[in-house]
Amino acid sequence: MEQTQLVRFVLNGTKRELTVVRSWTLLHVLREVYHLTGTKYGCGTNDCGSCKVLIDGKATNSCSFPMHKLEGKHVLTIEGVRDNPKYRLVPEAFVRCHAVQCGFCTPGMVIAALGLLLENPHPTEHDVAEALSGNLCRCTGYVNILKAVLDAAGRMEEYTHGQ
Ligand code: FES
Ligand code: FES
Repeated sequence: MEQTQLVRFVLNGTKRELTVVRSWTLLHVLREVYHLTGTKYGCGTNDCGSCKVLIDGKATNSCSFPMHKLEGKHVLTIEGVRDNPKYRLVPEAFVRCHAVQCGFCTPGMVIAALGLLLENPHPTEHDVAEALSGNLCRCTGYVNILKAVLDAAGRMEEYTHGQ
């Protein structure tokens, strides 16, 4: 019988307590327990970035993050991004800049971009390329994704100053 553990954390702003099996990953819990299916299972081996979420503000691959290490942490998924008026400027920029084709990589890309913009609101192209280097896209060629992140940076800046 696998060992279990009670884990307390905050998910998209809501406090949660969950008894987890030690082998569970955060991605498993997001999709199978909370039905937050915006976070995608791409490779399962830490290579594609499609499963990224923010953990305490840092973009992290949830497929390789053990649930039992989530104690006390704050998780933001793509659903939480949608519900935040400032953060959702990022996915809106992806749409405006035609940075989405099949869309499978998009939630992870948006999370990686948001993680960057929270840390560095004025990134260069090089900063964006580096921040997205762990995210694979099979469709877009990355050019419009890069444009979208820079566009989002400008809109987030305007939003902040409009407050
Ligand atoms: S599914 Fe997590 S990195 Fe690919
Ligand atoms: S839009 Fe299809 S994988 Fe990126």
